[in-house]
Amino acid sequence: MGAGDKIRLLIVDDIPETRENLKKLLFFENDIEVVGTAGSGTEAIELAHKLQPDVILMDINMPDIDGITTIERIAKDLPHIQFIMMSVQGETDYLRRSMLAGAREFLVKPFTAEELCSSIRRVYSLAQQRPAPPPPPTTVSETPAPPFPGTPQVPEAAPSGGGRRAQLICAFGAKGGVGTSTLLVNTAIALRHHHAHARIVIVDCDLQFGDVGVMLNMETTHSLADVASSIDEIDAQFLENLMVTHTSGVKALLAPPSPADAELVTAEVLKRVFTLLRPHFDYILVDTRTSLNETVLTILDEADTILLIITTEIPAIKNAKMFFEVAEQLGYPEAKVKLVLNKYDPRDGIGVDAIQGSIRHPILVTVSDDARLTRNAVNQGIPFVTSHQRAQIAQEVMRLANTLQSAQQPAEQAGQPDPSARPGASQEPQKPKGKPSLFGRLFGR
Ligand SMILES: Nc1ncnc2c1ncn2[C@@H]1O[C@H](COP(=O)(O)OP(=O)(O)OP(=O)(O)O)[C@@H](O)[C@H]1O
Ligand SMILES: [Mg+2]
Repeated sequence: MGAGDKIRLLIVDDIPETRENLKKLLFFENDIEVVGTAGSGTEAIELAHKLQPDVILMDINMPDIDGITTIERIAKDLPHIQFIMMSVQGETDYLRRSMLAGAREFLVKPFTAEELCSSIRRVYSLAQQRPAPPPPPTTVSETPAPPFPGTPQVPEAAPSGGGRRAQLICAFGAKGGVGTSTLLVNTAIALRHHHAHARIVIVDCDLQFGDVGVMLNMETTHSLADVASSIDEIDAQFLENLMVTHTSGVKALLAPPSPADAELVTAEVLKRVFTLLRPHFDYILVDTRTSLNETVLTILDEADTILLIITTEIPAIKNAKMFFEVAEQLGYPEAKVKLVLNKYDPRDGIGVDAIQGSIRHPILVTVSDDARLTRNAVNQGIPFVTSHQRAQIAQEVMRLANTLQSAQQPAEQAGQPDPSARPGASQEPQKPKGKPSLFGRLFGR
């Protein structure tokens, strides 16, 4: 930070009014100082050298040199400067190019003072944590995995001293085929729609038949199997390099390509993965297969929130009841498991109240039955929350994401990530420890 312990900011925008408004937005921030404003790319390059700001807020469209080129030119000589790109709606195609040029964040106008300030602070603090640029990702993906806004390249070491800690949300089907993967993938994208800077990673722990890659139309030669084969050497950067990045900015660590490799991904491997990912993401969304083995149990233990997916089918309802009994035996706090009713069609004649009464737990969100839309979405590899935002099913999943996001907000807003503030996390010490087998965990006390 510059003199006076403030983040020194240079604002670049060709419209004088915008520059003034941005200055006003930041006027009352004690830790941010606008050290200069520039009305063109040329002026920005000149002022960047002269003023040596910590962060530059850059408009993308400018008459002489565009924002992307300006960033490239400044970053070449002044690599310590952090860039935040601003655009208006409809210019988000530039996102990738901006990120490749060196921008760490991407703000779509209009944005709030809060969004602006948190972006500035985030890029600044990331720069403090990152002593040297990490190696380029080796991931093969639909998009070439640049650093995304809010999904930074992970530093070598976990940030110390109060870094964020992801909320781990796991989706567990009360029965196979209830739509667990569909809901998980769409929820991840919906979270990103809600909160453009959220750092989100999906970990596909349906280890034998993971569908996340297909559902998001992403391919990679890397998977969790690579983690298993290098367990002693992995760090956060290693994991980053195994991830594939969706166009939305959501990242994914995919299941092994062959079912035969599933057993390599042990409970120990997953624990290590979650530990390494937690400080670098806001949300870790984990897909699972319906089964209660040691690996799945480890995921459930690690989760802050378990989305227990049911349908109106009797076996699913029966299993959900059993699941709540297991959760109680495992010492999970009641609020940790949230019921989501999927494929709901009121014409089936089974009311939501009847289901809640039978399971004796409230349903968090009900998602409508829409076979055609979900089928098309999967076949096209485009989540329905993106392709059909107005569809009822998309709105319902958005609501689910909203609920999950609200659950995390208090710690974020306070600026003091507090692990004990996470749902369920305060009860972590209650978790039974040291009983290795599932049977022992459930019945051995
Ligand atoms: N709300 C919905 N309405 C109608 N069909 C749905 C809905 N959600 C999911 N489906 C469909 O249900 C089928 C199973 O979905 P999905 O693969 O997501 O379930 P799953 O529980 O993850 O299955 P598995 O146990 O195989 O992992 C798919 O054909 C999917 O399109
Ligand atoms: Mg599935």
